[in-house]
Order: sequence, then C-alpha cells, then structure tokens
Amino acid sequence: MTLNEGRQRHAQLVEEIRRHDYAYYVLAQPAISDQEYDRLYHELIALESKFPELISSDSPTQRVGGQPLKEFKPVRHLVPMTSLDNTYSQEDLLEFVHRVQRFLPGEALDWIVEPKIDGVAVNLRYQNGNFTCGATRGDGAIGDDITANLRTVRSIPARLRSQPGAAGGCGKHTDAGQAGHEEIPSLLEVRGEVYLTKAGFEKLNAERKAAGEEPFANPRNAAAGSLKQLDPRIVAKRPLDILVYGLGHIEGAARPPESQAEMLELIKRLGFKTPGNTWHCRSAEQLVAAIAELDRIRRKFPYETDGAVIKLNSFAQREQVGFTSKAPRWAIAYKYAAEQAETLLRAITVQVGRTGALTPVAELDPVFLAGSTISRATLHNEDYIRQKDIRIGDTVTIQKAGEVIPAVVDVVLTRRTGKEIPFRFPQSCPECGSKVSRAAGIAEGDEGVVWRCLNPDCPAQIRGRIEHWCARGAMDIEGGGEALARQLISSGLVRDVADLYSLKLSDVAGLERMGEKSAQTFLGGIGESKGRDMWRVLYGLGILHVGAGVAKALGRCFPTLEDLFASGVEQLTACEEVGDVIAQSIVQWNGDARNRKLLERLKSAGVNLKSELFRPKAKGGALAGKTFVLTGTLPKLKREEAAVKIETAGGRVSSSVSKKTDYVVAGAEAGSKLDKAQKLGLTIIDEAGLLKLLEQ
Ligand code: IVH
Repeated sequence: MTLNEGRQRHAQLVEEIRRHDYAYYVLAQPAISDQEYDRLYHELIALESKFPELISSDSPTQRVGGQPLKEFKPVRHLVPMTSLDNTYSQEDLLEFVHRVQRFLPGEALDWIVEPKIDGVAVNLRYQNGNFTCGATRGDGAIGDDITANLRTVRSIPARLRSQPGAAGGCGKHTDAGQAGHEEIPSLLEVRGEVYLTKAGFEKLNAERKAAGEEPFANPRNAAAGSLKQLDPRIVAKRPLDILVYGLGHIEGAARPPESQAEMLELIKRLGFKTPGNTWHCRSAEQLVAAIAELDRIRRKFPYETDGAVIKLNSFAQREQVGFTSKAPRWAIAYKYAAEQAETLLRAITVQVGRTGALTPVAELDPVFLAGSTISRATLHNEDYIRQKDIRIGDTVTIQKAGEVIPAVVDVVLTRRTGKEIPFRFPQSCPECGSKVSRAAGIAEGDEGVVWRCLNPDCPAQIRGRIEHWCARGAMDIEGGGEALARQLISSGLVRDVADLYSLKLSDVAGLERMGEKSAQTFLGGIGESKGRDMWRVLYGLGILHVGAGVAKALGRCFPTLEDLFASGVEQLTACEEVGDVIAQSIVQWNGDARNRKLLERLKSAGVNLKSELFRPKAKGGALAGKTFVLTGTLPKLKREEAAVKIETAGGRVSSSVSKKTDYVVAGAEAGSKLDKAQKLGLTIIDEAGLLKLLEQ
C-alpha cells in the first residue's frame, strides 16, 4: 500500500469509526457488533503503525491518552463562564420569574428546564469543526487547559459532525483548515458538564478499595479528581461522560441559534450529547410542574442531579435581561433538597482499615433515610470534622452522598445546648495504640489528610489483611469474613496470612459460634487455596496499588512470585499496566524483611507461587542476547504478547532506550522512546519487522 492509498483508507476508517463512536457513546444506539468495531479499530492502528505520519491528535486511536503533562496551562475563555444563582423554594422561583418579567414588560416569556447535572463544568472550543481546546471553568475568566484529558472522553466529538480536519490549539483561535459543511461554525465554544455515571463511580471505587486506595466521596469528586490528573492515560480509564447544555461563543454559523431550544438542536446535530429530558414551559405553573416531574424521574438517570436549571429560551430576551456581577439574570438553578435527615450524633468511632487508614465514623441514633435505616455515617477525615465543627452530642444532618454511602453533612447549630463535646482525633491508633502519621499522601485523593497507623502488627490491619486474603477475588477462602478473622486474631491463632496454613481443626472448631462443619469448610477452603494461581496470591498480599488487574499483568510477566520480587523498578515497569508508582510500591513491600519472611512461610506451607499466566522463555533462540524496547500500540499483538514472544525466542525486553538497545519496536502513538531511538540512531522496526525476526 502506498502512502496515498494509506491516507485514503485512513480517512475512510476514521470517518467510519467516528460514526460508530457517535452511535455508541452519544446516541447509545450501537450500529455494529463489538467484534466488527474492533476489526475497524485494529485496521486503523495497523495503518497508523505503517504510516505514523497519518496519526493526528484527533484520530480515534488517540482516545487512550497521550504523554503525561507537567502542568495544566492557563487558558482564557472567549466568553467568561459564569455560575448560577440558586433557589430552594417555589416562592423564590416565582420571585425570579417576576424579576425577569420586570425586565421585559408585556413580553411573553418561555423557558427551558434542564436537569442540573452534578459534575464538573468544562468549556470546549472547536475551530473549523475540530476540537482544539478544552478547559475547566477556573475563576470564570481563565481555566486550566485539560484538552489532553478531554480527548479521552468518548462522547466529546474530536470533530464536529461531517467536517474535514484542521489544526489549532488553546493559545490561538485563528482560522486553520477549511470550512466545510455549511452548518459548521468556524469558531464554537460550548459548555457542558463532565460526569461519572453512578455505575461508573461504583466500579471505580470498588477497584480503588481493592487496590488499597482511598475511595472517592461521590461521583462529582471522582470526575473532578479524574480531570485533574496530569496523565491522560489514567483519565482514559475513567468512565467519564459529558452532557452539553450551553453556548459560549459562535462565529461563522450559517444560521446562528436564536434560542436555547434551537441551540440544543444545533449542538445535537453537531454531534454532542445533550440533556435527554428538557421541558419547554410558557408559564410559572408549567415551570413548577416541570421541576416536580424532573424530581420524580431524576433518580433513574444514570448520572447524579442536584437540581433543575431554568433558562429563558430566547437569546434576544437574555440580552435585554443581562447579568449581575456573578451570574446571568435570565437563568436560575432550583436545588432539590438532598435526601437528608437529622439525628443525634452519639459517638465518633475510628475505624482502622487494611492499609492502616483511620476513618472517623459517626455512631447515630437510628434514622430512616431514603429507603433504609441509618445508624452509622462517614465523617471522612479529621479535617472534615474540624471544618464543620462537628461535636459529640450534636444533632447532625446526614445525607446519602452519591445516594449510597451516608455521610454527615452538617451540624444543626440551633440544637446546640453547650454540652456537646469537641472530638479529639486520636493521636495513636485506637486499635493498637501505636503511632499514627498523616505525613504522606500515599494515594491519589488522600494527599496528607488521612491518618495511618504505622504498626504493621495492628490487629485491625491484620484483620483487614486476613479478610482481603480470603476474599472471593483473592484466594477465595469460604468463611474467612470479618467475624472469623476477628476471632482468629483475638484468640492469638493468627497473626498473618501464613498462620492460616497451620490452623488445625480443633483450633477453629473451638472458637465461639463455630461448629465442626463450618470449621471443616473453612479449613478445606484454606487447603484448596494453596493451589491458586500466582496473581491471586500477589493480589491477596494487599500491596498498595496492586489491584487484581495489575496482579494479573504481573502474572503474565513473571514465572514466579520470587522472580517478581527479585526484580527492580525497571524490570517491573517493563510489564504492561505497571508504572513507577506500582513498581516502587512492590519494591518497598519487598524491602521489608518481615514481608520476605512471610513469603517464605507461605511457600513452605505449600502455597503455589508459580504463574499459570506466564509463558516460559527459551534460551538460545533466534533473538538470543538481543535487547528490545517496545513502544506505542502494535497493530495485532498486545505489548505483553510481543514481550512474551521476544523472550520465548531468547531476547530481552527493557523499558528504557539506551545505546545497548538492539531494536526498538514502534507502534502507533510511540512517543519519547521513539524520539530517543532516532536520536541514538538505533534500529527501529514495526510489528511486521518483529514477526519477521521471530520467524528466522
Ligand atoms: S447553565 C450561565 N445548565 O451548574 C449559565 N449549568 O451551579 C451557566 N450545571 O456552572 C450554566 N447542569 O457547572 C447550566 N443544565 C445545566 C447545568 C449546569 C449543571 C452546572 C454548571 C454551572 C453550575 C452552576
């Protein structure tokens, strides 16, 4: 295939994949099967690997995220991004309608009501149809340039629909490329809300907990935390979505929209996802009815909503009504009362988790809230209690944050009697009395706010580790839940997971509420667990940042757990999905002599440390003595598969390019490693070249 033919096919594939992305991510109406889609996508990757000059930042292959950034650059919005005034009652709403009417005496008013999406506001700039700049609101005038992160959000079109390519950037908004379809404006800024669905949030938090990381408090925090990531590849893994509801600026449109309703129609045609439920109202009564209807149905939406936004429909009327210093006078947010209840805060206990994290928990007088009785709620961390001045004996307002985990949101100060007792966060671990520290923010989201118990022998941590080891996703030992773990530890039978393997039937059957049969089941489970695959053992050890997915990736790279622990950061990061943070966490874990001893004891107990996922290397093969560096996405082989093939043929795979590298295998999105290889004058091959070498 010549470059010209490649270019033509590339354009066809991009166009076709975009169409399917739109059908899937925006309309939620997929037109082809996943396999057919994958076929197109892989063809595109193969083509871009053959002709890297065809790769552009808006190619569908670039949605997986590019190189990490050092910082976000500031970007000025063409039109400031204002906020909205809030109302909380029907009265206030009617007052708002009258106020607007006073600016437009005698005029008929019509309104659009939309859900108020609880996410993060962003501004998206399109120049000649191309997405060139995406930014946070920031201070309203200047936001952060988060274009690279937003490119990973599948429902944000890389190009407006039916428009050929052009270039641009946050810094410049001059014309670039050519105008195409008559409807496509030369310059467009739209505003919307990036959010995480409720389901996406649950999944993300479950993964974070399993990897020993601090969960996000609610979907909005999770979306905000994701967009603040400097590494777009991490953002690409977060299930972010967008709804676009506003226009910042438009130039060169054939027929600029004259109302919110027209604008929503236009941006929908241009390929954006817009709020599905909107109401067109022509009176205050209709507004009240629409707001009530939205409240009835919003819990079924896949995303969180915290209100309704009421906007004057006509843009001409908006202009007459104008803005205050902070917000438009022609729109208002009607906030629904969150599902809240008031109750007495009897006590504050502090839970110690598997990683030693201390979490304050409110012990409450039981109260019914949104479908269930609540007697405990999270208080997040010490700073939260201090900021809200929450005291024991206070009447507090609790709320279902993210409609799942109840949280204390406020103190009802009018109910204070003066007898309430301020809470002193424990200066030592409540379980074992050891030193606690909040020096290090060891996981994203807990930058120095989380206290951790520093004693690895803390019974609460041991309990957490035992429970984690026995969990279904790890060693899958039936019966190893919290109650049994507690008893095993308090009776002194178990101090670490290796102790489980010397338990006798009489030990376990002798525990309270433990019959012989349950004891037998539990011990049977322990016996069976000895044969589990290496990745389960590794995951079960509960090393910070090593979730099940990472453990599997490591299982594919290393034949045994001993080999894995004998490796340094460089060898570890040569594995797919393993970055510096994970590698360092593993090295640090292994640096502790007690952990090494634990591993030895597990081995002597007969626990399998071999990986079934690993494919053995052959010595003296076709590639013996040759060092390879893999970079970018290969058309057919996953990076790990390529590594296994190289190693099977006797070659070595390294993660960094140096003079000693014999071959650099470059695929799509190859970045700095490829640049370095070119500078050093190394041999650069593609996947086909690699396969040829392997055949020899
Ligand atoms: S219109 C000048 N519409 O709520 C008009 N905002 O509390 C500004 N929001 O900053 C926004 N859903 O981040 C609008 N349907 C919607 C919205 C919405 C969520 C957010 C937006 C805004 C904030 C104001």
